[in-house]
Amino acid sequence: MSSSYSQHTGHGFIISAVLLLLLRFAFSNGIKHDRAAAVMKCFDGVDCLSKRTAWEHLTEDLPSCLVAARVWWSSRPAAIPVTLVTQLSAERLDQLRAQCATWSGPLAAALYLPLLNPSSHELQDTSRQKLQAMIASAEELFKASETNQLHTVRLGNHRSSDGAISTSTNSSSGSGGGGAGGCQLRLILIYELFADPRALVLYPVNSLRNYARLLADTDLITNIDVDMLPSASISAALADPALRATYQAGAAAGGVYVWPAFETHCGGTSYADAVALADKAALPAALRKCLRRMRPKAPASHNATDYERWMATDGVYDIQYGALYEPWFLSWRWGTLWYDYRYRGYGKNKIVQAAATNATGAAWHVSPHGFLVHRPHSESRARRDFLRAKFSRKDMEDLRGSLYEHVEALWAGTTAELAAGSYMARVERPFQACLEALPWWRKEQRR
Ligand SMILES: *[C@@H]1O[C@H](CO)[C@@H](O)[C@H](O)[C@H]1NC(C)=O
Ligand SMILES: *[C@@H]1O[C@H](CO)[C@@H](O)[C@H](O)[C@H]1NC(C)=O
Ligand SMILES: *[C@@H]1O[C@H](CO)[C@@H](O)[C@H](O)[C@H]1NC(C)=O
Repeated sequence: MSSSYSQHTGHGFIISAVLLLLLRFAFSNGIKHDRAAAVMKCFDGVDCLSKRTAWEHLTEDLPSCLVAARVWWSSRPAAIPVTLVTQLSAERLDQLRAQCATWSGPLAAALYLPLLNPSSHELQDTSRQKLQAMIASAEELFKASETNQLHTVRLGNHRSSDGAISTSTNSSSGSGGGGAGGCQLRLILIYELFADPRALVLYPVNSLRNYARLLADTDLITNIDVDMLPSASISAALADPALRATYQAGAAAGGVYVWPAFETHCGGTSYADAVALADKAALPAALRKCLRRMRPKAPASHNATDYERWMATDGVYDIQYGALYEPWFLSWRWGTLWYDYRYRGYGKNKIVQAAATNATGAAWHVSPHGFLVHRPHSESRARRDFLRAKFSRKDMEDLRGSLYEHVEALWAGTTAELAAGSYMARVERPFQACLEALPWWRKEQRR
């Protein structure tokens, strides 16, 4: 497959490019190759060995040095001109697979690999091996997505004991041209070198969200964390040209369209997968079974969505942003605010962007056409530690000077800047340069 572009596997690339030329796929392959190559070019000459991440990078808000190892870009045409944007680490590849299986359009993902590399003068063997293994896993997933073989969800294959949802999974699968899902994947594998094991907790979530978005070339985008499955009904609605035109107009005018979010408390991943394929009409039954609204313990995060109203309506409705709201939404690529790289590890990273979005005067709408469902997974150890610190005063005191404290201090600063009207999301200089270099991000491309 020549759909990927890599600094490390130049021969494979040249050979397969020649083959594809012979196969007369030169034109479409040229476009995707150009795009993958343009993104890779952003990382030319980047040397992170001298900038390996240490704990002080957090306390001084120094950006992480990030390098792309490889970019894969689907050769299939975009089935819907809306890009789902996401980011993940290696443990979440299955979630990406599931997301790709339910989403019908382009899916732009940043895959992250942290490498503890005590040496400051060379990439160590262990690092190299991890990188090669990650490339192989990503390649496998990419190939499966290109040949539409990653359906973890099979219609009619769902055990009915898992809940009321199982027999209605058929209804929404007819749209988007080709059944429920089958995304066109664009994947960037980014790694970061660490000098200090303690710093491994500093997952650069917002940088990854931003880099993933660079792979989007449609006017509409939707940033959805990788553990959330978009309902098949979202793809169906966005595949409808008339409906899409109304979203496009509202988003270009500065509005955002929230997808109501749910989570499951039983039934495992297969239940969540089945819910994502079901219609809205099946949700009341599911809510009596394994489904519930997102994050009941943190009502501020999703309550503003107004679930009662959503269940009862077929129309778009407006809501008021509330403090600490952190929904996932559809927005205009050209107007969506960037994520602030300083929020690393855990805490407030998405909340900041939503608060800044509200401060621009954005209109908050809720889409009646689809929803998201959380796909269960085990918490990483870093997140468990973070949550323990967050919810326990004693642990919090132990963690003075910790990630949690730093994030809270950042948030206090951001809140003050937002109130003063002076907040701007911080993005890294190399990121800004990359953004300016990519042809599909030039202002003239903007409609
Ligand atoms: C699936 O859809 C087809 C065609 O719309 C219909 O004939 C069939 O009965 C459906 N099956 C289920 C299990 O709903
Ligand atoms: C949740 O939202 C509803 C409707 O927007 C509001 O009436 C209610 O007070 C909110 N509850 C909480 C706990 O925020
Ligand atoms: C959201 O933005 C509006 C308009 O700028 C502002 O009046 C409101 O106070 C903001 N809400 C919050 C909770 O910050």
